[in-house]
Amino acid sequence: MSSVFHKIHPDLGQLSFQWMRALALQNPLGFARTMIREAMKNGNLVKSLKNCHVKGLDSYVLYDSKKEGGFMLRIFFAYPGSLDNIYDRNGNFILGIHNHRFDISFIPILGAMVNVRTEILPNPTPESTRLHEFSFSSAILNGAMSADYQKPVDATPLREDVLMPGMHATMKAEELHTVRIKNSEATEGVAWIVIEGPDINPDSLIYGTKEKLTLNREELYQTMTKEEVIPRLQWLMERI
Ligand SMILES: [Fe+2]
Repeated sequence: MSSVFHKIHPDLGQLSFQWMRALALQNPLGFARTMIREAMKNGNLVKSLKNCHVKGLDSYVLYDSKKEGGFMLRIFFAYPGSLDNIYDRNGNFILGIHNHRFDISFIPILGAMVNVRTEILPNPTPESTRLHEFSFSSAILNGAMSADYQKPVDATPLREDVLMPGMHATMKAEELHTVRIKNSEATEGVAWIVIEGPDINPDSLIYGTKEKLTLNREELYQTMTKEEVIPRLQWLMERI
C-alpha cells in the first residue's frame, strides 16, 4: 500500500482529508500498518503528547497538514485503567461527551474501543439525561484550557458502539461522543487511529453532569520526543 500512496503523491501531507479517509476505510488495518511504518521514517512525530486530555491517554501524531487544508493523522493509546468514566461526579474535567472542530474517522488497531454517542434534544423526555454544556478551549490549540458554562441541555441515553480492529467509524464535527475502553478486556491497552479533517466548526463543546467543571492541567499534555514515540509505534506494529 505504501507504493500506492507514493504513486498518488510523493508527499503524503499533500493528500486531502477526503482522499486519506477513502484510502483508510478501504483497508483499515493495512492503512494503519502502512501509515505507522511511513511515520516512523518520515512523520512529524514531535506534536505527540503524553497524558493528552486525561492521564493514561497518549496521542502520537503521525502527520499533520491541517494548516495547509489537509488532515491530521494520529494514534490515541489508552493505557488500562484510563477512560473508564464518562462523567466525573465531582465536576472534574475528564474525556466526557464532546463535539469536534473537524470531521473525524476512527480506526481501532489494538483492543476494543467503545464509541459512546448521544444527541441533544429540543425538549426533555422520560428517558433523557440532564447535562450541562461548556464551551471549551483546548490547551493544544490555545496553550491554556478553559471551559465556560453555557446552558443546561437534555440528551438522549448514551449509545455504545464497540469497535474492534478492522472496523471503523466516521462522525461529523458537530456530532457528540466520547470514547471508553473496556478495562476488563484491555490487558495491554487500546489503540486507535484518528483521521481529522480541517477545522470547520468553531464551537468546541463539552458536557458534564455538574454546572461546574474544574480543569487541572497538572501532568497533562506532556510533550514527547521522536525517540520516545518511535518505540511506542514499533511496539504497536508488532501487535497489529
Ligand atoms: Fe472525540
